[in-house]
Amino acid sequence: TKIFIPKDVAALAVGADRIAAKVAAEAQARGQSVEIVRTGSRGMFFLEPLIEVETERGRIGYGPVKVSDVAALFDAGLMSGGDHPLRIGRTEDHPFFIRQTRLTFARCGVIDPVSLADYAAHEGWRGLARAIEIGPASTIAEVTKSGLRGRGGAGFPTGIKWKTVADAPADRRYIVCNADEGDSGTFADRMIMEGDPFALIEGMTIAAIAVGASKGYVYCRSEYPHAAKTFSQALDVARAGGYLGADILGSGHAFDIELRMGAGAYVCGEETALLESLEGKRGIVRAKPPLPAHKGLFGRPTVVNNVLSLVAVPTVLDKGAEFYAGFGMGRSRGTMPLQIAGNVRYGGLFETAFGLTLGEIVEEIGGGTASGRPVRAVQCGGPLGAYFPVSLFDTPFDYEAFAARDGLIGHGGLVVFDDTVDMAQMARFAMEFCAIESCGKCTPCRIGSTRGVEVIDRIVGGVKGAENIALLEDLCQTMKFGSLCALGGFAPYPVLSALHHFPEDFAPRHALAA
Ligand code: NAI
Ligand code: SF4
Repeated sequence: TKIFIPKDVAALAVGADRIAAKVAAEAQARGQSVEIVRTGSRGMFFLEPLIEVETERGRIGYGPVKVSDVAALFDAGLMSGGDHPLRIGRTEDHPFFIRQTRLTFARCGVIDPVSLADYAAHEGWRGLARAIEIGPASTIAEVTKSGLRGRGGAGFPTGIKWKTVADAPADRRYIVCNADEGDSGTFADRMIMEGDPFALIEGMTIAAIAVGASKGYVYCRSEYPHAAKTFSQALDVARAGGYLGADILGSGHAFDIELRMGAGAYVCGEETALLESLEGKRGIVRAKPPLPAHKGLFGRPTVVNNVLSLVAVPTVLDKGAEFYAGFGMGRSRGTMPLQIAGNVRYGGLFETAFGLTLGEIVEEIGGGTASGRPVRAVQCGGPLGAYFPVSLFDTPFDYEAFAARDGLIGHGGLVVFDDTVDMAQMARFAMEFCAIESCGKCTPCRIGSTRGVEVIDRIVGGVKGAENIALLEDLCQTMKFGSLCALGGFAPYPVLSALHHFPEDFAPRHALAA
C-alpha cells in the first residue's frame, strides 16, 4: 500500500517527518507492507500534516495527524482508507480542493517531486515536447495567445517579453527565474520548488528554446533551504535524464540551469537588483531603460520571469493557448495560485481562475478569521500592497479591478486581519519596512520612508493631526511618483489605503504617552 506524506516545509514544520517515521514503524510492527512516498503539499495547510493512502476510490486523506494518532489510524484500517475522525474522504473532494482549478499546481502534493517517472506519468514534459515540435516562433506566439501575464505582480504579457528577448540581437541570451519570494503571506514559488520542481525546469527550458538562451539561473531566497535542496536534486535528475544539457531530448537545443541563493535582501526580488546580485555585486536597483529584455544579465538580453509565470507555460504549450485563455476574466487570463494567510481559518494555496471576489476568497474559501472575530482588513499583494476593507470585498480578483481600487494583486498573497488590528501601526510598519529594505539608490524611498515613520508617529501621538496627515499624503505622492522602483513606489499603497479606509485609527491616541 502506498502512503503519501508531504515533505513540504509547511508540513515538516508541524511534524511530517515524525509522522513518516511513526507510520513506517507502526506498519513494520504490524507486519504490514507500506511504501511511503514523500510528496509536496496539497496546499491545505490547516490539514497538515495530511497523509493520504492510495485506494481503489482514489487517495483518502487524514489530517491533521499527530504522532499519537498513528496507532489508532492503523487500528481503524488506515491501509484501506478506513473510517476515523481525522478522515477527510477523497482529498480531491474536500470543499477547499474541489472548487479549485489546478493547472499550475496539478501535480503538487501528488507526485514524488524528484521522480522523473512520476512526473512523466502525470503529463510532464509534454509542453516541452510540443515546444520542440512547433519551434521558437510558434512557441512564443502560443504563450502570447494564452494571455499569460507576469505572475510576479506586474502582469506584463509573458509572450511579448519573450519576443523582445528573442528579437534582440545578441551572442548570448539568458533565462532568469525570480524565486526570491519575499512578499508577506506568499509561498507558491516555494511550494513548486519543493513539490513539482521539474515543472519549473520544463517551463524554463521552453522559454530557453523560445528565445534562444543557453543558460538559465534560478535566484532563490536564502530563507528557502528545503526548496533549494529539492530543486538541486531535480536539476541533477533532469540532467541525467537528458532534459537539460548540450542536446535536449535530441532537439539540438542546449540549455542548463544553475541555482543561486540570495542573501536576504527584499529588494533583490526587484528584477534589476536581482541581476546585479547574480552578477556578484551588491543588490542595487538599476535604472530602466535599458530593460532587462534588451540588456539584462551580463549586459545580454534576458528573460526575467517569476516562478509562477514559468510554471504556467508547460500547461499553455501542452493544452494549447485557447484552453488556458478560456479561464479568467477581462485581460486576466488563466489561473492564479492564491496564497491565503494571516489570521484566517483555512489558510493555504488555492488555485483558481481570475474573477472570484475578494469576499468569496476570504469569507467562503478562507472561512473568515482563525480567531473567530470579524474580518477587518485584507492586505493583498505583499507588504507593499493595499489594505482592503470589507466594504470593498466585491472587488474581483483581477489585475485591472484591483488597480481601479488603488490596489494590486501582486504575487497573489492575501493576509487577513481581524478587528483587533491597529491600521495606523500597519501603515507605520510599511514605512519602516521600506526604510529597512531600501537599497538606498534614490531619495524618495531612502529618506522618505524614514520621514514617513516619523510623521505617522506624530499623527497618532496627537501632534498637529490634520497638518501631518496632509504631509503624509504629500510624502506618499512623492514616493509613488519619484521612486526608481516598486519598493519605494509601492510603500504608499498600504499607507494610503490604511489612512483612507480606516481614518479612525489615525486619531490621536498616544498623546499622553508622548
Ligand atoms: P514593471 O511594470 O516595470 O515591469 C514588469 C516586467 O515587464 C519587467 O520584467 C519589465 O522588464 C518588463 N517590461 C516592461 N516593459 C517591457 C517591454 N516594453 N518589453 C519587454 N519587457 C518589458 O514592474 P516591476 O518593477 O518589474 O515590478 C513591479 C511589480 O512587482 C509590482 O506590480 C508588484 O506587484 C510586484 N512585486 C512583487 C513582489 C514579489 O515578491 N513577487 C514583491 C514586490 C513587488
Ligand atoms: Fe532603491 Fe528604494 Fe529607490 Fe527602489 S525605490 S531604487 S529600493 S532606494
